[in-house]
Parts: sequence; C-alpha cells; structure tokens
Amino acid sequence: MKKQAKDVNELSEEEARKEAERLRDEINYHNYRYYVLDSPVISDAEFDRLMRRLEAIEERFPSLVTSDSPTQRVGAEPAKEFGTVKHTVPMLSLNNAFTEEEVVEFDQRIKRLLNTEREIEYVAEPKMDGLAVELVYEDGVFTRGSTRGDGYTGEDVTQNLRTIKSIPLRLVTVRGAGGAMSIPKRLEVRGEVYLPIEGFEKVNREREEKGEQLFANPRNAAAGSLRQLDPRVTASRPLDIFCYGIGTVEGISFSTHMEVLEYIKKVGLKVNPLVEMVHGVKGILAYHEKLERMRESLDYELDGIVAKVNSLALQEKLGVLTRSPRWAIAYKFAPKQETTVVKDIVVGVGRTGALTPVAVLEPVEVGGVTIERATLHNQDEIDRKDVRIGDAVIVQRAGDVIPEVFAVIKDRRTGRERPFKMPEKCPMCGASVERIGAIHYCTGGLSCPAQLKETIRHFTSKRAMDIEGMGEKNVDQFVEQGLIRDVADIYYLKDRKEELLGLERWAEKSVENLLDAIERSKTPTLERLIYALGIRGVGEHLAAVLAKEFGSLESLMQATEERLLSIPEIGPETARSIRDFFKEEHNLKVIAKLEDAGVRFPQKKPTAQKGRLEGKTFLFTGTLSSFSREEAKRLVEAEGGMTASSASRKVDYVVVGESPGSKYEKARELGLKLISEGEFKKMLGLKE
Ligand code: IVH
Repeated sequence: MKKQAKDVNELSEEEARKEAERLRDEINYHNYRYYVLDSPVISDAEFDRLMRRLEAIEERFPSLVTSDSPTQRVGAEPAKEFGTVKHTVPMLSLNNAFTEEEVVEFDQRIKRLLNTEREIEYVAEPKMDGLAVELVYEDGVFTRGSTRGDGYTGEDVTQNLRTIKSIPLRLVTVRGAGGAMSIPKRLEVRGEVYLPIEGFEKVNREREEKGEQLFANPRNAAAGSLRQLDPRVTASRPLDIFCYGIGTVEGISFSTHMEVLEYIKKVGLKVNPLVEMVHGVKGILAYHEKLERMRESLDYELDGIVAKVNSLALQEKLGVLTRSPRWAIAYKFAPKQETTVVKDIVVGVGRTGALTPVAVLEPVEVGGVTIERATLHNQDEIDRKDVRIGDAVIVQRAGDVIPEVFAVIKDRRTGRERPFKMPEKCPMCGASVERIGAIHYCTGGLSCPAQLKETIRHFTSKRAMDIEGMGEKNVDQFVEQGLIRDVADIYYLKDRKEELLGLERWAEKSVENLLDAIERSKTPTLERLIYALGIRGVGEHLAAVLAKEFGSLESLMQATEERLLSIPEIGPETARSIRDFFKEEHNLKVIAKLEDAGVRFPQKKPTAQKGRLEGKTFLFTGTLSSFSREEAKRLVEAEGGMTASSASRKVDYVVVGESPGSKYEKARELGLKLISEGEFKKMLGLKE
C-alpha cells in the first residue's frame, strides 16, 4: 500500500520493476474477472487507477515495458498486409446436420464404427456465428494469433486479437499436482471471435451516421473488424471470443474434451458457460431444442449446436475425413435468411405519421416463422439496395426485429421489375407527404386516421389542451366507436351523450365530468393551442416562441417560410414542416371546425379587452378542490396572468390549497399575499 502511494518519480528502477509486475498481475486478474467471468470484484474507477499507475511507471521506465503488459493491447501501427501462419494441426470444419434424422444417423454411424451398443457421451456446445481463430501461447504468453484461413494456412491477426479484452495476454498460472506451477511450453487454443448483437447494432449505427455501407449481420461485422489492417479500428469494436478446443499442446495430456475445456477455462480463457455434457442422441436433440428456445434471448448470434464425442481416445479411433472429423457434428438451427420474391411494395403510416415502405412477399418460412411482409425502412434504403417490385430478394430476421429485405439477387432480374417511389399523398388520408431527413411524413396530422389516436392523446394532454378523462383507454374507445374522427369532434361529444352513456365503463357522473373538462378547455392560451396542434418539430418551447412572435393563430397560419426562417429558433426543416401543416387542407378544415365548436383562438397582442389578471403573478401550494394545478395555471394564463414555481418577491398572490407544503412556509416568511381557493375563484370571475 505504502509503495503504491509513492510518487512514480521517486521510484528506483528496481522498485518500479517490482511494482509493475505486481500491477500487471493484478490488472490481468481483474481483466479476467470482468471480461471472461463477467463478475468484476472492483469498480471501473479502481481498475482505471491501476492502469494509470502502470502506464505512468512504464512511461518513466520504457525498458520495463513487456509485450504482454495490459497497456500493450493496442500499440501496433497499421499493417500493410497480413502475414500468413501455418497451423501445426489443421483447423477442420464440421459436418452439418439440418434434421433430427441426420443427427440420429451421425450417432448410429459412430456406434457402428466403434462397434458398440452403448450410449455415447458427447459434449454439446453452442455453435457461434463468428470467425474461427487460433491463439498460440508460448510459456504462457500470447505470441501469435491467426484466422482459420483455408484450414491449413491463415492470416496473422495477432495485433488485432490482442485488442480483445477477453483474450489473456498471459495465461493464469495453475497449480498442478504437488503444488508445482504448470504452464505448457506451447498451447494452441481455438475459438470463435464474435461481435455481440449490441455491439453489432452500435457499429452499424455509427456507419449509418457516416453514410457507410451497413454490415449485413454480426458475423460479417466480426470478420470485417478482425481483418482490419489498423488494430485501432479493431479495438473500437467490442469483439469477444468463446474458446472451444485446442491444437498442439506441449507439456500436458488430456483424456476427454471436457477436460480440455475445463483446463483452458482455468488458465483464463473464455469458454461458453452453456457447454454441457449430454448422453446419447437423445441428449443432443434435447440440447438443440433447449438452445433454439434460448436463441432469441442471447446477446450473440448462434447458428446451431455442436456435438463432440467426449473421449479423446474414441475421437482418435473415429478419425477424420478430408476436412471434417467423424466425431463431431454441427446441428444447425433453422436459417434466419431465406430467398423469396417481392410481389408488391405498399406504404404503411405509423402513429407519428411516418410512412414506411413495406415489401409484400411470396410467403416464406424464415427461422420457423412464415413471413409475408418485410420492412424496407425508407426510400434511401430502397435506393441503396435497389429493391424493385418483382425482384428476388433475401429476407432476414434478427432477434425479435421485424423481418427486413436484406439484399436483392440481381442475377435473377428479368427486366420486368418496377422501381418504387414514395407516394406524394398519404395512403391513409390523402394529405400531402413531406420529407424530413430520410423519412417521409403525412402532413395531415389533425385528421389522418393512422395518427388519430396519437394526435388526440397529444391534443388533450396536460400541457396542451389539458382535458382530463382522455386517457389512452378512453381515446381508443372513442376512436374505435367512431365518436371521434378528428380532434374537433372532441367538442361535439356533448351532442352524443347518449352514445357515451352506452359505452362500457361510462356512467352519468363520469360523462358529466368529461364534458365539463372539455368545456373548460375551450379557452387555451395561444401557446398551448399551437402546441396542441402537434405540428412536427413544434414542441412546447417553440410553440411559446411562435405565439409571442405572431400573436394569433391566424397570422401564424399565413406566415411564409422566409418569415418563419427569420426566427432564430427555427431551422429549414421546421419552417417547412409548419408551412406544410397549414397548407394542408385536411388540417385547415379541422382548425375551422375547432373554431366553430367554440374553441377560443386567443390573441396574444394586448387587445382592447385586458385579462382580469393582467400582469399578476400567482404561486400555488397545496391541493385545490375545484381544479388541477395545470388547470389553475391555464386559467391564470388565459386571463393574462403569470405563474411562478417557487416563492419569491415577484409573486403577487399565493393561492393556498389543502395541506400546503414548504412553498407556503417560504411565502409566509417573505410576507407574500396569501389567498384562499375561494378568493382565487372570485378573481377569475367564477362562483366561489
Ligand atoms: S469445433 C474439429 N466448436 O464452426 C472441429 N467449431 O464448421 C472444428 N464453430 O470453423 C470446429 N462454434 O468457426 C467448433 N463450439 C464450436 C464452434 C465451432 C462455432 C465454427 C468454427 C468452425 C466452424 C466449423
């Protein structure tokens, strides 16, 4: 402890060497806990402190830097090309089985070759969808790493593999029999490098932002990341590894595959925790079923399971064919990609008005689910992939995501395929379509049936028109029963009282309350009214800016794009969005209908008639019995007053409700004017 506290500059070289060694061991151990076991025992901050200390020591004494120091994961300069590595033992591939029968045959063949009726013991492992690599440890130090290549010769990707945190740069020393340290002279470990789904999505998001081509799947992303000439690029991708076997070992012998896995796990390598010993063909089939069920919940892609004969003596007896061993089989899961044909491209309208092109497909089974539709995301994606109606395409499902058209098989084109363009009118309501960024939107927000529920929810929300009783369930009910077809219909509900009473969950009292709340909402402030319209890009703040700038809804409706652009808070997209909104006749009709229904369109400019509370500031504390806090604030604003959220000398009146809180105490201390709810109502011209 004392030593660690000593300033790095005061360390002698000998002290520094000792401390660096101790720090490396400690860091390696914590790295192993974190990246391999997924169970850290110190905080990230503490870990960083150890790393920084080691870096400082190595900086002061560069001769102490070792190649297996944890500071040396990313250090190498970009390579011009990869060298080649010959595998001392060929890296074989696996025979695939796609059906139960094929697995049964595999097991029978083994029994026949071994001349036995006894149940075979297998090790069942997840089959990762990544890239096979070999790691070489000499005297416990990671010296070389390579790709599988053609099985005999691979590429030297040592510098890139060093950046993967779950690959130890130095093996953990294991106490062998009799307490002696046993580290093999040479250990070749094989495993699969992969990119977890989250990492894959992150990499693709970054590529999308940079306008680069997306990786098709985690496997390609892992391969692309590992085969980077610049290790810094590899280091920026959260690659990981699961080890599943060995090549040459010098200094130890094993008798089963499970022992091999236990051993490599013990020396610090990452082995998939789902690996299991199973008995006979039944065990393999059950394992396959279990993992297929788990598949969607894992954070990495699996393409099947692998079953390996556990006994190494039996493996030897069974031998290998040209490229694959007789003692192992990969039992694949149903593929998540399939080929089919795009019969049509239709356009869906989402709750927010976004138009999504959807491919109508010749039905096809993908990963055990029949799919008939797949998203094409947006026009840019369609253009990039060049998807046309009539094209043969590859569709894919990844995780729980909606199926998507992944690529076009251009070789199959006949010339009769038709390109697709987004419609100019919304397929749901006929309103004009505007494009914001990569997305096309319907501009008929106030009446488009696809957006209606969302529009009403926004329109009636607390910070908009503030109508209590228009919760999600009720809105759904009103829309589904055809009582509301556009937001203005809310103000005509009073004429449909009988129908309301006929609805489930509604009674005289609740209907009364709702209709009262609707009536009370007819006098919004201008900013609330503008906000309530739900113009794309116009939030509460901008609504207030617009209200101040234009003074009335009418003059906002007539504003040109240039006029809107002259307001500092408004950019070109919002200006266009506001313009398009008020150009759309569907919206204008609903606005006129709102006015007809008696909704007051306030004038913000000081007019002949001043509000009752002009220039006065109110503060509320405690619960009011006649209105909600939001309602009370709205009433003050509608009468030209302002509201404050804390007690200060700027406050003219403090309205004290039931069980007031700390604001009340503060207000009293400041000697502010306290009034009751009744007095407040009187000021508003309401009955007490
Ligand atoms: S064993 C002799 N085990 O599948 C056996 N391979 O087609 C050689 N793979 O190149 C491989 N997970 O990339 C084995 N648990 C696992 C595996 C696995 C994925 C990949 C590996 C290999 C390919 C074989």
